[in-house]
Amino acid sequence: MNLSDAIRSIPDYPKPGIVFRDITTLLGNARAFRRAIDELVQPWAGGKIDKVAGIEARGFILGGAVAHQLSAGFVPVRKKGKLPHETVSIAYSLEYGVDEMEMHKDAILPGERVLLVDDLIATGGTATAAATLIRSMGAVIEAACFIVDLPELGGAAKLTAMDVPVRTLIAFE
Ligand code: PRP
Ligand code: HPA
Repeated sequence: MNLSDAIRSIPDYPKPGIVFRDITTLLGNARAFRRAIDELVQPWAGGKIDKVAGIEARGFILGGAVAHQLSAGFVPVRKKGKLPHETVSIAYSLEYGVDEMEMHKDAILPGERVLLVDDLIATGGTATAAATLIRSMGAVIEAACFIVDLPELGGAAKLTAMDVPVRTLIAFE
């Protein structure tokens, strides 16, 4: 089985000219889901990750499975206004305009080793902001991992440039 075959590509979504890479078909395929998680965690199977940080929304699904597999804690990186306790936040750029993401300020302790998880990296605006926020809490980002990379959009290169090692399983041009 080829993992990329488990991802559905939808032309002209959410707007004309964009091919949307839909991972819900991979999640619904038991063998593909297990294999994707096994492959994602493989470099950290020895147990040096303290916390997995998953980015809303699809990073929650993958991050929960990754954290369980690594016997690590899970912490959510959420869109603004969703977390009930005291938060730290950072603004980040979207295609049109800006948004803000938040974490509970006691979710990660200084010195903890964090693995950042999301389904896909495109421009890298989301992941670089999350990495900056996590570093501002005094934690060490061991790496960021994603099932899908869209390398033409340059996001993985931006993370690498800020000294965050990147692991991706599939690249779509
Ligand atoms: C998608 C994807 C990543 C982000 C990647 O999430 O799941 O989080 O965009 O794009 P970037 O690298 O250009 O920042 P989206 O913002 O659509 O949120 P959702 O998962 O809540 O739908
Ligand atoms: N799929 C899912 N999320 C995305 C995509 C995509 O192709 N591009 C930017 N965010």
